[in-house]
Amino acid sequence: MPPRRRFRDPIQHHRVFHLTESRIAIAGHPIHAMMVGFPIALGFSTLGSDVLYWWSGDSFWVRVSLWASGASFLMGILAGLTGVAELLLVPGIRIRAASWTHAILAVMLLALLGTNWGSRLSGQDVLPWGLLMSALAAGLVAMTGWHGGKLVFDYGLGSHDAHRAAPSRTDSS
Ligand code: HEM
Repeated sequence: MPPRRRFRDPIQHHRVFHLTESRIAIAGHPIHAMMVGFPIALGFSTLGSDVLYWWSGDSFWVRVSLWASGASFLMGILAGLTGVAELLLVPGIRIRAASWTHAILAVMLLALLGTNWGSRLSGQDVLPWGLLMSALAAGLVAMTGWHGGKLVFDYGLGSHDAHRAAPSRTDSS
């Protein structure tokens, strides 16, 4: 009987695939992961204050949304810069398609956060377009954040040794 053939995933066996440790980090803690909480929380806060304005008609909430949308955009840009640096500098992150999917989602999100803030700065009405943009941005924040979490928890990106616990099903060695 011929020996059983072992299949190897050429990408997973590429040395670069396992070089996933964060380079933009403080004492091994990725700065991107520390920063993304701000655009996520502020993006949802913008939607919250828009809904409260819609419900109450109190212009206080318009000012809250102006600040929250601006802060979510600016903190998102800072978080995005650290993410882009990781993407370009860490070979095991750069080589994975999933990292680029997250980056594309994030750039679309940042464009929307910026547009939402800009429309408020230029005095556009919150209802209906500001509220709709905030709702869309909250959905995109959720998708981008969920996908970023996948990069860390499914692929182990940003940590020392990706795929340490996930041998390929076809790799019996
Ligand atoms: C172009 C911009 C971005 C790029 C290239 C990028 C790239 C990355 C990379 C490479 C990781 C893996 C962990 C690491 O190496 O630090 C990651 C994680 C993550 N990203 Fe981004 N990112 C970007 C923007 C954003 C934005 C705007 C958000 C906010 C919604 C976000 C949310 C996350 C989350 C939640 C994680 C998981 C962090 C954790 O739980 O430890 N990213 N991102």
